[in-house]
Amino acid sequence: MSKAPMKVAVTGAAGQIGYSLLFRIASGEMLGKDQPVELQLLEIPDEKAQKALKGVMMELEDCAFPLLAGMSAHSDPMTAFKDIDCALLVGARPRGPGMERKDLLAANAQIFTAQGKALNAVAKRTVKVLVVGNPANTNAYIAMKSAPDLPKKNFTAMLRLDHNRGLSQLAAKAGVAVADIETFCVWGNHSPTMYADYRFATVKGKSLKDMIGDEEWNRTAFLPTVGKRGAAIIEARGLSSAASAANAAIDHMRDWVLGTQGKWVTMGIPSDGSYGIPVDTMFGYPVTCEGGEYKIVQGLAIDEFSQTCINKTLAELNEEKDGVSHLL
Ligand code: NAD
Ligand code: LMR
Repeated sequence: MSKAPMKVAVTGAAGQIGYSLLFRIASGEMLGKDQPVELQLLEIPDEKAQKALKGVMMELEDCAFPLLAGMSAHSDPMTAFKDIDCALLVGARPRGPGMERKDLLAANAQIFTAQGKALNAVAKRTVKVLVVGNPANTNAYIAMKSAPDLPKKNFTAMLRLDHNRGLSQLAAKAGVAVADIETFCVWGNHSPTMYADYRFATVKGKSLKDMIGDEEWNRTAFLPTVGKRGAAIIEARGLSSAASAANAAIDHMRDWVLGTQGKWVTMGIPSDGSYGIPVDTMFGYPVTCEGGEYKIVQGLAIDEFSQTCINKTLAELNEEKDGVSHLL
């Protein structure tokens, strides 16, 4: 017997990430090849955006996806989020050259107060929320704080792109397959202060750190490359990352819903106080997922260099939080 459809809301559905994301959700790459989906697509009320959204929906129709059980266009989060199981909050302004993601707070923060309130009012109580719009951690924090009747654990921010970027850089440096790298993670904020940490990573049981050997490479090449990759893409493409961002969003939601079979992944989640991060701070952690729940990997040793990096990214998140306190 076929499963009941899951309702998935995607905001910014006519944007560039939306265009790389929707077709993959409809084809079953996010929630499973046996899981029908209904897409509830939100765009701003602007006539041009709504028309572009209609165009994307025409293309979705033309794919005749067997798992696409329905779709609807919305300009109001109160209807877009009605009874949803999953929300991918993508709709927000992207940065341009020379900007940092936190420079977007003034433009984007209010979107997430309104959308948090709408989720609070109409979404399923078990809704899984992934915030992609930048600055992702602080926007997720705003949405969570604006939805007091929903469990805090339902709100997450995307650090999976940083995780995937790190994996590729490590695989290239060590000359190993991405798929063979285990127990890698990224701590903190989706910003250049993030701390991509391969101290625990292994390849077929061997320490990746030992395989790489070159301690200097971590500080002078790896961390800056991963941390500034978003800006490098903007510089090269003239637009911010889209297909790789959509891919990371699919990875994040798939792993959360379907589980990681013991593998570590990175998710931005509200802290429970682990590793000394203040409760509720939306922080990138190593997690494993099982039965639709994520669990922070506990008991990792934090050396002096790592603690300095973690303190730096936490300080930035605290600053961003202070900058939006008037909205909460
Ligand atoms: P885009 O400009 O191509 O598309 C954004 C879309 O969102 C537009 O169609 C716009 O009309 C819509 N939108 C704006 N406000 C909205 C609202 N209140 N409700 C619904 N829709 C709204 O941008 P993009 O390239 O798709 O990027 C979207 C966001 O994702 C940006 O903030 C970008 O910085 C961020 N991003 C995050 C990551 C990450 O790793 N967390 C990676 C890449 C991009
Ligand atoms: C990224 O990391 O590619 C995105 O957050 C877009 C950006 O502004 O860098």
